[in-house]
Amino acid sequence: MEFANVINGRRAVNFFDPNKEVPENLLKEFIEAAAKAPSSFNLQPWSVIVVKDQEEKARLRKLAWDQPKVSEAPLVLIVLADRKAWEEGHPFVERNFAEMIKAGTMTTGQRDWFKNARTSLYGYSDEAALAFACKNTGFFAMGLMLAAKSLGLDTHPMDGFDQNGVRKAFHIPEHYWIPLLLAVGYFDKNKTLAPPKWRKSYDEIVVRFDK
Ligand SMILES: Cc1cc2nc3c(=O)[nH]c(=O)nc-3n(C[C@H](O)[C@H](O)[C@H](O)COP(=O)(O)O)c2cc1C
Repeated sequence: MEFANVINGRRAVNFFDPNKEVPENLLKEFIEAAAKAPSSFNLQPWSVIVVKDQEEKARLRKLAWDQPKVSEAPLVLIVLADRKAWEEGHPFVERNFAEMIKAGTMTTGQRDWFKNARTSLYGYSDEAALAFACKNTGFFAMGLMLAAKSLGLDTHPMDGFDQNGVRKAFHIPEHYWIPLLLAVGYFDKNKTLAPPKWRKSYDEIVVRFDK
């Protein structure tokens, strides 16, 4: 699919065809495509829980403002942002360092530099660690929506849920933030898609803060 069709065609779709499953190969394909997203030091602080089971979706829906798309979509991703994914000893930090040594982009002697760089950027406050996790996971989430669209799938991102309730119900460890839920499936063609929403223009987006 042409990029223009993907970016213009992606919509937050409210109605999913409950009888049309997302094939496993497509699920894998769009998740791995989204993982091509850039991330700080390539730390990739994202994970997802795939919720497909009807009873689990019903449980999630109750915690998500009772939004019908949560149980009507064939699957919902609970997108997770790992606030600790920059810390020394984290398995993917270790993997990342090993990969950089292998690729020759870092030397073993730079280990302290790498640790100090991460700590100075993300370790000085809880807010910095949360921003690190959520900004990088946001790029990944956008990739999920665009990659899904490119494969003919539709999505709906959601903030309307109880963060602590979902954490508890799905036994999600404390160091993950849940930036969004993402319903995935196929638009129910018997329903009408809402007209495209307005967007800020170039002039409204570009700003300066001169004295
Ligand atoms: C992080 C995020 C959270 C959102 N949360 C909800 C939600 O809980 N419920 C809902 O109906 N729409 C939600 N939306 C959808 C937005 O309202 C929608 O993306 C926006 O109005 C633009 O419409 P479009 O995506 O169709 O272009 C959310 C979107 C994002 C990116």
